[in-house]
Order: sequence, then structure tokens, then C-alpha cells
Amino acid sequence: MEKVKVGIVGLGRLGRQHAENLAFRISGCELLAVCSVAAEEVEQVQKDWGIKYGYTQFDEMLQNQELDAIFISSPSNFHCEQIVKALNAGFHVFCEKPLGLYLEEALRVQEAVNQQKDKIFMLGFMRRYDKSYQYAKKKIEEGKIGEPIFIRCYGLDPAKAMDEFIQFAKSNYSGGLFLDMAIHDFDLARWYLGVEAKQVWAIGGAYAYPEFSEMNDAETGTALVKFENNKIGIFVAGRNCAHGYHIETEIIGTKGTLRIGTIPEKNRVTVFDEKGAIKECSDGFLERFEQAYLSEAEEFIACIRENRQPAVTVKDGVISTALGYACRESFETGKLVTVQS
Ligand code: NAI
Repeated sequence: MEKVKVGIVGLGRLGRQHAENLAFRISGCELLAVCSVAAEEVEQVQKDWGIKYGYTQFDEMLQNQELDAIFISSPSNFHCEQIVKALNAGFHVFCEKPLGLYLEEALRVQEAVNQQKDKIFMLGFMRRYDKSYQYAKKKIEEGKIGEPIFIRCYGLDPAKAMDEFIQFAKSNYSGGLFLDMAIHDFDLARWYLGVEAKQVWAIGGAYAYPEFSEMNDAETGTALVKFENNKIGIFVAGRNCAHGYHIETEIIGTKGTLRIGTIPEKNRVTVFDEKGAIKECSDGFLERFEQAYLSEAEEFIACIRENRQPAVTVKDGVISTALGYACRESFETGKLVTVQS
């Protein structure tokens, strides 16, 4: 097969990284078109990287018959509509998480994906493509920790990005803390424990930043989840992590324990100075998951070239969204919530 010709929508924090990967780091593909409502972003990327087509209207990009695939990295409130349009226009589609901001949107996407079974669809649960997370999965499959029965996840955004985030959140609904932040952890929990969530109790609040209460959201929150077979999940999500971007996962099994990212190290360097021995921490998702973003995009392109569907399915997206919504409902009502299945 010739190179897969891709058009990307969204050239923001993550979209630009995806665009750079597609343009320069994946041999089987060509980034042929870029799209953003911000004309200056489109012009800049076209000029800097020599990208043939630029659009400020998503619908116009979909008219381009030279394209094979659409890569969606626009804000979450556009995902559902853009996925459905791109699939119905005959393209393979990769979309950043989440599938949509509401369970109904996720179900609409699922229906569209199921109606276009000859098209490749992939959702950006990139942690499944991170080398450490894959290594942990292999250990579980080899039986190293026995039966996994408990998972504890921390997903904490750096406090230094707080002003930017509050500004963003006031003008864009992102689904709230549990859907926006913890959705990766919900997916990992299902992947590692091999069972589905049944009941949720979620609590949280605004501690240092009252703005979160005004937005009816939590700055830091926790969900206690009961999974099938009485397995346990504890999820901590937050936006105010003083030491950086902290993504940590612990899986306890009947014969052992795995921990991933216990100290969210920037790299393997330890700085020894008058303050002591310092391991600097990762300061954002682009740094921590650089390899995973590239690997997931490579997999998407490989799936198109080899005509096979990726391991991450639209159903994974729907189920994780349902769990995110159950957490939101529990957080808002204070009640124990049964997860919709
Ligand atoms: P951002 O706000 O930095 O960038 C959004 C981009 O989309 C900008 O280029 C903007 O001009 C463009 N845009 C906005 N509305 C548009 C429209 N209607 N049509 C075309 N372009 C439009 O957002 P960010 O942080 O890059 O997030 C993008 C998506 O990626 C979100 O859905 C977010 O949930 C997801 N994300 C996933 C992460 C992960 O770890 N998998 C990490 C960060 C974000």
C-alpha cells in the first residue's frame, strides 16, 4: 500500500505533537492536511512543515478525496460530531479521548463505528502503548502477581498549569474531573483487572481553588469502585499537584504487586546538591507519554495498512465513559451509583 494520507484536526497542545509525529516520525504515512479554527496555527504548520492542504473548516477537509484517514485532536465537545462525519464520509478515524462529553454521544459514536466496520477506528488510550504499562500487562499475563484484585491510580495534573486550566475550563466544558482526567485510569483498570465496574462512590472538592466549585467540578477527587468478582479500584484525580505531572498505578494481585510510576521521574538523572539527592519530576503529559503518543499513532497507521482493527475498541471508550459518568453522578449527588452496562 502507498503511504496513508492523513488530515489532522486540532493543532493545540496535543494536536501539534500528533501532527509532528505523523509528519516526520511514521514511515507509512504522510500528513497531507491540517485543520484548526485558528487560521494562524494552520498557516504556521503549513509553512514550517510544508503541509500541502490547510483548512479552518473541518467539513471542508472532509471534501478532500486524496485523504485516507482523519486524526482528531480538537476539544472534546467536537469529538462525537467529527468522528461520525469523518466515518460517514468514508475515512479511517483516530480520535483523542473521550469519545464524547456525554454517554449518549459515546453511544452515537459506537453506532457509527459499527456501521462502518470496514473502516479502522482507534481511540487515544495511549497508556496501553506506553512501554511500562505494557510491561506490567505482560507480567500480569505471565501470572507474576497471581490474580489481580486491586488497582490504585493517581492521575494528577501539575499545579503550575492551573491558571491556564481554569481559563480553559471556564469557557469549555471538558466533562469534569472524572471524565476528563480519570478516564485513562478507568480504561487501565478494566485492562488489568479483566472485569467491569459495578458500583461507584466518588467524593471530592475545591480546596485551594474555589473556582472549581463555581464550575460544579472538583479540583481533587477520589472514586472508590467495586468491580465484578469483588475486585477493588481506588482512583485519585486532581489538578493541583505541586511536584509536577504524577501518573501512578498500583496493581495488587494474590501473589504480588506491580507499581508503575511511583516516583514520576523526569528521567534517570539524580541531582545531588545542597538540598539533597533530587529526582526531578515529569512536568506534563507530552513529556511523560511522548513514546506512547508516537506508538499509538504508528499502530493506527499499521492497522490501516494491514487492514486490521486495533486492540483498543470503541466499546472500551463507551464503558470508560459510563464509568466516568457514574463517578460524576456520585460526586454530584453524594450517592452510591450503579454503573450503566
Ligand atoms: P487545545 O485547546 O490545546 O487545542 C485544541 C485545538 O483544536 C486548537 O488548535 C483549536 O484551534 C482547535 N479547534 C477548536 N475547535 C475546533 C473546531 N471546531 N474545529 C477545528 N479545530 C478546532 O486542546 P488539547 O489540550 O490539545 O486537547 C485536545 C484533545 O486531546 C481534547 O479532547 C483532550 O481531552 C485530549 N487530550 C488527551 C490527552 C491524552 O493524554 N490522551 C492529553 C491532553 C489532551
